[in-house]
Amino acid sequence: MSCQHETPLQTGLPVNQPLLESLAWLQEELNDIKSDNLFRPVRVRSGRQAGTITLNGLSLMNFGANDYLGYAGDPRLVKASAKGACAEGAGAGASPLVSGHSNLHDTLGKNLSSLLCTEDSLIFPSGYAANTATISCLAGPGDLIVSDAHNHASIIDGCRLSRADVRIYPHRNITAAAELLQTIPARRRLIVTDSLFSMDGTIAPLTGLAQLAHDTQSMLLVDEAHATGLFGTHGSGLIEAAGIASSVAVRIGTLSKALGSAGGFVSGHHTLIEFLRHRARSWMFSTAHPPASAAVAIESMKLISEEPFRRQRLAENACRFRQKLSDHEINIGDAEAHIVPVFLETPQKAVEIAASLTRDGFFVPAIRPPSVPRDSSLLRISLSYIHTQDTINSLSDSIINYVGT
Ligand SMILES: Cc1ncc(COP(=O)(O)O)c(C=O)c1O
Repeated sequence: MSCQHETPLQTGLPVNQPLLESLAWLQEELNDIKSDNLFRPVRVRSGRQAGTITLNGLSLMNFGANDYLGYAGDPRLVKASAKGACAEGAGAGASPLVSGHSNLHDTLGKNLSSLLCTEDSLIFPSGYAANTATISCLAGPGDLIVSDAHNHASIIDGCRLSRADVRIYPHRNITAAAELLQTIPARRRLIVTDSLFSMDGTIAPLTGLAQLAHDTQSMLLVDEAHATGLFGTHGSGLIEAAGIASSVAVRIGTLSKALGSAGGFVSGHHTLIEFLRHRARSWMFSTAHPPASAAVAIESMKLISEEPFRRQRLAENACRFRQKLSDHEINIGDAEAHIVPVFLETPQKAVEIAASLTRDGFFVPAIRPPSVPRDSSLLRISLSYIHTQDTINSLSDSIINYVGT
């Protein structure tokens, strides 16, 4: 589409040379990104998320979405979205504190608190916004944040925004985390971790971290973005599965992955949530999450309680898939769930193998820095309830063919 403001007069404008020169450094940076094999083109998807998707016009078996339960394109949720928009509008129209907080947001908050067994919850426009606002509210100068080395970018950015003393402990190493908490003086202490790590598919040592938080009088913040809807008897996440709900001060999650919607949330004691309502900048100063997305999340939480067979089948499929790759000595690290990485030596290798898999009809993204630490690259396989056993088998055969020894 050409610029709609373009008129014969404007096309004759002289080239603004100083402006172009001021931007030249951007092209140099982009050239470096390309030569390091880190360039990431945006693919255009046609149609809904599903087992097979069309990307840039190419139909591929989809192993590159976080739609773990297959709800993102589910007609029941599409209908809930339309109904929500009809009832409360296409947009929220204002920040939650002004007039953007609708009945649907209120119901969603209450339903989340009931699922998570917490007192209160706050809905954010995204999980990213939930993390950055919450972490930067709970710690500041003079405080200590102890954060896992593989935490998600939104946690890292929340830590940076806080201006607290941020110390990183090696991935899942409780001894190192304990040493930091016991030796560094601070006014207040906050431990932050993903529950299921988004790139490694590993699970945080939640019981040990809860004990550590208790022993060191620290607040524990757990981000369940990739676990909400998938673990525990009621499907609330890994905190429920570990039986440590009463020890986690701050529970964060997203509505955008297994729940098939959009938005993020923070849940916990009433005092925590009331404090965040007065301090969390991305909640106070951003237009509320769209009501239709709240309607979708309400409906998918209902489906999650009615359809536990989805998470059970996903867990079984994931277990078989990991086992098969491990049996063929494919390096999947310590993956324990439905996110399965295949670790590769270089970004170039990751890009090449992802391209070979595309030729075989699979969409598997090549993950490179800055999504993962500088020295690592991987293929990230996201399994979903909607994959058939045959599809998963053919993907593992192709991976073994390209990566196996
Ligand atoms: C661990 C973790 N937290 C937070 C987020 C951000 O969630 P959202 O996509 O809802 O912004 C992600 C996104 O991938 C994530 O992996």
